[in-house]
Amino acid sequence: MAESFLVSGTTKKEKYESLLPQIKALTEAETDVIANLSNIISALKYGLDFFWVGIYFVKGEQLVLGPFQGPVACTRIGFGKGVCGAAWKEKRTLIVEDVEQFPGHIACSSLSRSEIVLPAFDKNGEVKLILDIDSEQLATFDETDSMYLEQLMEIISRCCN
Ligand code: SME
Repeated sequence: MAESFLVSGTTKKEKYESLLPQIKALTEAETDVIANLSNIISALKYGLDFFWVGIYFVKGEQLVLGPFQGPVACTRIGFGKGVCGAAWKEKRTLIVEDVEQFPGHIACSSLSRSEIVLPAFDKNGEVKLILDIDSEQLATFDETDSMYLEQLMEIISRCCN
């Protein structure tokens, strides 16, 4: 199982299409939230070669860092703050082509140039966690990423309650 987890394809679309069914199968076979999220983060980081991939959990009025792969990151982000806090407040996916152009962007790493942030929801429709993916290049993320990553957030909503 874990050894046979492979991402195939050359385009982003092909990679996501190879990755998502494997993530679904892997997480359906495990009930532990941290174990599932940790594997999902690793699969994204190494499968699509992103700079930083991580989860922030909603805890009270803050987001608190969860499983991640990449350089050490900010541990707490307030409601509405940075890209992550804005995605939480607005309850939607945010794509930032150039982090320097996003008012209030929180620079955990000066190497991060663009990012995509997506919320996962609990059964009452409240945001329960945020997925943050950072790139060292400008304008890495587009509608292909948001479409497949929104499918991933549905898998996360199911597997990681
Ligand atoms: N850039 C994010 C903070 C999290 S780190 O990038 C890992 C933001 O502005 O919310």
